[in-house]
Amino acid sequence: MTEIRFDDNFLWGCATSAFQVEGAYKEDGKGLSLADLRSMSINPAEEPTKALANTGDKIADSTVASDHYHRWEEDLALMKECGLKSYRFSIAWTRIFPEGDDAEVNRAGIEFYDKIIDRLNEYGIEPIVTIYHFDFPAGLQRKYGGWADRQAIADFDRYASYLFEHFKGRVRYWLVNNEQNAMIRRDGYLGITETDPLKREQIRHRCNHHMFVACAKAIASCHRIDPEAKIAPVMAYAPHYPVSSRPEDVLAAKNANDLYFHYMIDVHCRGEYPGYYLRWLEDNDWLPEITQEDLEILRAGRPDFFGFNYYRSNAAQYCPADVSRELVERYRVDARSRILPGVCRCLPNPVIPEDSLNKWKLDPIGLHIAFRNVYELCHLPLMLCENGFGAPDVLEEDKAIHDTYRIEYLKEHILQINEAVRDGIPVLGYHVWTFQDVLSTSEGFRKRYGLVYVDRDEEGGSLDRYRKDSFYWYQRVIATNGKCLE
Ligand code: BG6
Repeated sequence: MTEIRFDDNFLWGCATSAFQVEGAYKEDGKGLSLADLRSMSINPAEEPTKALANTGDKIADSTVASDHYHRWEEDLALMKECGLKSYRFSIAWTRIFPEGDDAEVNRAGIEFYDKIIDRLNEYGIEPIVTIYHFDFPAGLQRKYGGWADRQAIADFDRYASYLFEHFKGRVRYWLVNNEQNAMIRRDGYLGITETDPLKREQIRHRCNHHMFVACAKAIASCHRIDPEAKIAPVMAYAPHYPVSSRPEDVLAAKNANDLYFHYMIDVHCRGEYPGYYLRWLEDNDWLPEITQEDLEILRAGRPDFFGFNYYRSNAAQYCPADVSRELVERYRVDARSRILPGVCRCLPNPVIPEDSLNKWKLDPIGLHIAFRNVYELCHLPLMLCENGFGAPDVLEEDKAIHDTYRIEYLKEHILQINEAVRDGIPVLGYHVWTFQDVLSTSEGFRKRYGLVYVDRDEEGGSLDRYRKDSFYWYQRVIATNGKCLE
């Protein structure tokens, strides 16, 4: 029997994000974000009002999502009943500053989050607040092209600093941004419409650098405004294994891990890009402008802990430098099959079978490996900010949802966190993605992650909430501090 060793302060939580859960996408003065537009398949260069009138597709989008904006009291009461110790959610920048840089704060927007944060604190549930989860203001995108322009750094810092001032003493854990490394791979979240491959990649890497500087600036502002608060970035993490022990494949897997994930830890925690990353950018003519002032900002804004999200692992193999450009373009947006000429070719792990329900290659041990890899590089306390199982659940006649597959997935991953804890890694908490079903960024409501079922399909529904079997299971896990996983 494995000895379970979570400490008494371990944060057993759940996570969501604003555009995926709230709905009310234009209510009470909210502006539109790139995440809203992407969910509606709208090109950010178009005028949203005109484009919205043209959309008639049936895939769920962020207009209603899970209607948390109107049902937050019921949702928070369910969190309390489940016994959550923490709730990770994001604030929509466009509820606070609808255009992104408005002179005045949108009072109704901030009041919504006042109510959530106050109620969580009243319930003894730690609010863990993400400042930016994929939802950059569409107004700023139109105004100056978004993250590609340095102005975004100052606008983000102004927004983040407003939150630190306003919620000082009420929020102890901040997460600056969600999955910068996943975000920069998706053109829709960056508002990239450039079609020339070289220019497109140059814009992408400029956005990436500006986001790093913005993150460091926000961290420094947080430390100045509320020294008691702790703050960190959140990275997407999927360890890549070599497909064989051939040195070329081993190096390819190292390249994949370093160029997708590990370099970020260097930038956030040491304030420097590692040499292999600069070389990769230079070799491809993608190197953005990095000023002396940028480097000073990066060095001055170091996180207090490190957050990452884990769902599954991947594999990598050697890739020749002269691989066809057409092939590279074909797999460009598919993180699991991407090709970096001369560096690595990613592919789903050939030795792990596909799950019969969601076709994922499930790998709980990969989470233990992830903890070890990340901790070795940053030596900071770690927080698992997302982990969950997406599947099309079935609501039975009696309103039960028997999601044993989700329970099995979560249990196996919790056991691996326990392994990391036994290795001596300081783990602050675990967050199941998600508490209630939310809009999946790739499949609307066809894929669900929640412990609580939201009664809706792609077109809508009653939006009533039903506890899944996993809800009761997680309640027991929390009540026993991880000792009972059955
Ligand atoms: C994470 C994101 O990468 O994956 C979430 O932070 C997202 O926002 C989650 O919902 C699951 O992916 P998907 O595509 O099923 O929504």
